[in-house]
Formats: sequence, structure tokens, C-alpha cells
Amino acid sequence: MLLVRNLELSAPGKLILCGEHSVVYGKKALASAIDLRTRVIAHRIESSNDTASFEIRLAQLDRTIRITSNDFNRICSSLELEKSDEDDKIIKAVRLLLAITSGLEWPHISGLRVDVTSEIPLAAGLGSSASFSVCLAALFQVVSRGVHNLSDEDLNAVNEMAFRAETIFHGKPSGIDNSVACFGNYVVLERGSIVDKFALASALELPIVLVNSCVPKQTSEQVVKVRELRDRHSQIVDALMSSINLIVDEFIEALKTATPDSIDSLVGSLNDLITLNHGILHGFQVDNLELATIVGTASKRGFHAKITGSGGGGCCFVLLGRDKSDERRELLVNDLSQAKFVSFPTKLGCKGVTLEKIEFFS
Ligand code: PMV
Repeated sequence: MLLVRNLELSAPGKLILCGEHSVVYGKKALASAIDLRTRVIAHRIESSNDTASFEIRLAQLDRTIRITSNDFNRICSSLELEKSDEDDKIIKAVRLLLAITSGLEWPHISGLRVDVTSEIPLAAGLGSSASFSVCLAALFQVVSRGVHNLSDEDLNAVNEMAFRAETIFHGKPSGIDNSVACFGNYVVLERGSIVDKFALASALELPIVLVNSCVPKQTSEQVVKVRELRDRHSQIVDALMSSINLIVDEFIEALKTATPDSIDSLVGSLNDLITLNHGILHGFQVDNLELATIVGTASKRGFHAKITGSGGGGCCFVLLGRDKSDERRELLVNDLSQAKFVSFPTKLGCKGVTLEKIEFFS
């Protein structure tokens, strides 16, 4: 059995570029991986034996989860883990991932100390839990198989495992968050399935500013709000959702056909689509004062912005041009921080789960 001595891996957060809410009604949504990542560093403190525990230290939450060999045996023999009466969602998700990793045995993880850090703000619609689940699923997949890299088959297994963990965190997840954290780049979703995935050349890397309104949000409440609006005005809302679907199609087409020489015209087209989609989300009443202030602040500096995710709080994103030294960007970030919003300069189309380093005992 090949035993891992040290390992490092990371997975990105996600941003919905367009198509939120209409995706719930069978339309397409386009999401991108962003350069804010969860990182896992694991090292084995001693060679495997039955008394050494397995530990996960979560810096963002200031807590440690410890699993003993007795716990591991119980976890692997208990059925229906998703329905267990454990309230703590993180412990429940860790147990589930341990139980469903095919071929995982106690010696694979005994004595492993795992440090998890993350740049992804929690509960902001940026896929923090999926990024965590993907990292942990990838860790278990790699240690159980003793492999030096993640094959396509491994990635598919990791994505499925992380989706099941996401059902613990979010009830009925759409699958966007785990798919983006796993595969990275750009992902198109329709009716719960990935219908397209694509990457762009690095010359087409698009910088953005992600802005956290710092207003907590409940996705389910916003989904109910849109459903009630649709119940009251079904023809209008359905027509607007069809328009969002056209926006998604044009967004994908613009990205796929762009060349390094046509970046300015790409940004111009995407800005139109961003503003159109935001306008419809405003019409769906998932906007609020904070989100509207972010979009207005961006507009004052000549940028286009939209809500990303469910709305009602959470984040907006602002598309930047290619000129990263643009002083307008500094002015924008300054305006936003004066208004007490938290900005994260990042970029679109980043890599998915990545095994950065691995070393085995010889
Ligand atoms: O903010 P988030 O990541 O929870 O995004 C929700 C997106 C919705 O379309 C509103 C709901 C969904 O499940 O797709």
C-alpha cells in the first residue's frame, strides 16, 4: 500500500456569470472558476497505526475535527449517512466523504494532519462549501488510490462525491458549485447537468472585481420570491427567463469566439449582457439597496456590474477591461471600501481542483 507522506491541493470558488434563477426553470446558466481558492496541506505525523487519529484543522472556522480508527469503522459500516441525525453539517459531510470513497482504508488516513485554509468568503454565494468538499473528496481519492495526479476518471468521482456532500450543506444543490470547483474554467449547466465546459487561452484571462455586500442571504428565500412572482405574472416572467437564456447563449458565444486582438470588443459585448441580465434580476426583485449601491458605484466609474448568485445579499461582480493598471479600478475599489463593501480583485476561468504536490513514503 502506497502511503502519502505530504500532499497539497487546492480548488477554486465559483461565480455565476449569468443565468441564475432562470436555471431553476430549465434554462442554461454559465459559471466560472475564480482565483479565490481553498487550500489543503496534509502531512503524516507518524507512520500509520491504529492509535494515530486523522485530523482536519479548519482555520476559517477555528475548529478541528478528529477521527479515530473506531470512528472510521463505525462511519464505514453505517448506512444512510445523509439522513443521520448529526446536526453539524461539516462533520456530517466529512463522514459522508469518508464512507463513500471507494477503497479508502484506515491506514490511508491514520496519522494524517490536514490543514484547510480558504480565501473564499463564507455564505456569499461563491461556492465555499463545494470548494471544501471537492478538496476533501480529492484528498480521499488520492490517498486511497496512491496516485500522483488526478485523472479524468478521478475528477468525475470527486465531482460526484462532492455533489453528495453539497446535499448536506444545501439540501437540493444545482450542482454548479461542485462542478466548477472540480473542473474549473467555464461550465454551462442545464437541468442539473453539465452541458458544456470550456477553457480560454491565458491571453483571454478576464480580470474582475468581486464585491461582497456583506449582507447574509438565503438562496432558498430568493428562489421562493421569484417563484411567487412567476405565479403572479407567469407569461412575463417566463419571457424574461427566455431572454436570460439568450443572454447566456450570447455570453458563451462571445467568450468562445474572442481572440486576444478583440478583447476590447469582447468586454464591450459582455458589459451589455451583464447590464441586461442585472436589469432582469432587478425586475425579479432579488436586488436590494446594498447590491444596487454596488452596481451604481461601478457605473459611476464607467464599469458594468451585476448580482451573482441568488441576490438578496451576497455578491456582485464588476468586469474590468484588460488594462490592469487602470487607475479607475483603484478609484472603484476605494469608493466601494468607503461604502463598507469588501472587494476582491480576481479573474475568471481559473483552474479546477489541482494536486499541487504529493510525496509518498518509500
Ligand atoms: O448564490 P448561490 O450560489 O446560492 O446561487 C443560487 C443560484 C440560483 O439559480 C438562484 C439557485 C440555483 O439553485 O441555481
